[in-house]
Amino acid sequence: MVDGAKVADDVEPRTLLVQYLREKLGKTGTVVGCDTSNCGACTVHLDGTSVKSCNVLAVQADGGEVKTIEGLATDGVLHPVQEAFRDCHGLQCGYCTPGMIMQSVALLEENPTPSEAEIREGLEGNLCRCTGYQNIVRAVKQASGQTEGVTA
Ligand code: FES
Ligand code: FES
Repeated sequence: MVDGAKVADDVEPRTLLVQYLREKLGKTGTVVGCDTSNCGACTVHLDGTSVKSCNVLAVQADGGEVKTIEGLATDGVLHPVQEAFRDCHGLQCGYCTPGMIMQSVALLEENPTPSEAEIREGLEGNLCRCTGYQNIVRAVKQASGQTEGVTA
């Protein structure tokens, strides 16, 4: 399943999950920012856990449930974390944002009311070249406590 839709396909064993999402499924909301598994721009959820999709083979997701940034809103209503990033100006160029939001959602699922230090630690695998992180942390803080019971 990808973003709630069943997907059946033959995939080359060497195809990366991020490649498959972008090139086969057209889910270009998930982006590639490095080739070293460092930046986190490609973060998606696999069976409820955040993963760097440039570091996972598509075949490893076989039988699993993948959620990308494109599946986060429900019936056109933004997820609270998306809303908070918008409200708090938690982005500038936006390139890191899909991964940053997916990582933030996973972080809040694990710890719905994190401290600032816990937010910074939870996002340390996601790099942003623009914001200085301040508004990203504010956004996650704003969304905290609002995500329980929200499907992600
Ligand atoms: S593109 Fe996956 S970590 Fe940078
Ligand atoms: S907003 Fe530009 S890289 Fe984060």
